[in-house]
Amino acid sequence: KTKIEKIDQNKINETILNEAGEILKEGGLVAFPTETVYGLGANALDPKASEKTYAAKGRPSDNPLIVHIAEYGALEKIVKEIPPKTETLANAFWPGPLTMIFEKSEIVPYETTGGLETVAVRMPSNLIAMELIRAGGGYISAPSANTSGRPSPTKAEHVADDLNGKIEMILDGGSVEIGLESTIVDMTVEPPMILRPGAITKEMLEQEIGEVDVDRTILSADSHQAPKAPGMKYRHYAPKADLIIVEGEPEEETKAIRQLVYEQVRKGEKTGVIATTESAEAYHYGLVKVIGSRNNEKSIARNLYAVLREFDEEEISLIYSESVAAEGIGSAIMNRLEKAAGHKRLSAKEILKQQTFH
Ligand code: TXA
Ligand code: MG
Repeated sequence: KTKIEKIDQNKINETILNEAGEILKEGGLVAFPTETVYGLGANALDPKASEKTYAAKGRPSDNPLIVHIAEYGALEKIVKEIPPKTETLANAFWPGPLTMIFEKSEIVPYETTGGLETVAVRMPSNLIAMELIRAGGGYISAPSANTSGRPSPTKAEHVADDLNGKIEMILDGGSVEIGLESTIVDMTVEPPMILRPGAITKEMLEQEIGEVDVDRTILSADSHQAPKAPGMKYRHYAPKADLIIVEGEPEEETKAIRQLVYEQVRKGEKTGVIATTESAEAYHYGLVKVIGSRNNEKSIARNLYAVLREFDEEEISLIYSESVAAEGIGSAIMNRLEKAAGHKRLSAKEILKQQTFH
């Protein structure tokens, strides 16, 4: 009995919003759009609401939630101290796709922080999110509104596919703008450290506050260290099909994938391709899905999770994906793709060297 309500960011229906706010105040769960992905909202200061959140997602309870606020002034109450660079970053990027980690204050329950002494905080820019946070009491925890282990939802239909019947309400505000989760920066260390790449890039952060470190586990497959954001250690999402990333110059990637797909299809393997607008027509075999344009990496970020969900609905056993350069938002795209692939990658050059002509 999940209630699904359409809501327009530019003309917010107050009746629906107030109803959603009441659900949150009473300890219930409401999924809502943010500019990054859909979130599963609950009262962040209510330990029972956090427990419900973990249960609905099927998420391990040592994986902390992000607390969403709608006013900078709300930060004070939930953190022990506000490190000096915080205000600079907040002025530059809040509201927006940036999450900052601080020492938590006593009112934040350990149920919300997965037992940690720190708390992650974000101020989203989506107006439905903003108004819902206010209506729900000002402190709303929101993990991505997917079943644990599935791609994050970028439209309300994805949320319903995963959580229908398990939560009180879904606010359907259409498709999200960014499509990848927020950048997470740990403000408790000096220099601050990126724990999860997102639309706010290292370069953008460094322009504001100087040097910023990056958690080494973010892109490397073979690091023996555990990631500093507990959630990053889980193989977030494993597609039903094997996913293999092919790396090289764009044209080499296309040639190599054509070769690989041809060989697999000849063997009777049901094979998929994650292609770009630029390369799509070059593929004549396999189930080809376009993820966006190389000239507009934001379009790739926006479509990635939906394309992965679509492949899960097909009878495909193997997917080859093109890659993008790990710069700017490309580093967030490759981080999520690499996790989905379990870090399986091939060099396009190597494939083309072994090419058998036909
Ligand atoms: O864009 C987003 O951040 C979305 C939308 C809904 O706001 N939310 C989101 O939440 O991605 P979730 O729960 O799916 O991911 C939160 C990540 C996890 O990897 C978690 O381990 C990390 O943030 N995290 C949360 N609190 C932390 C803390 N105190 N220390 C380190 N990592 C933390
Ligand atoms: Mg998530």
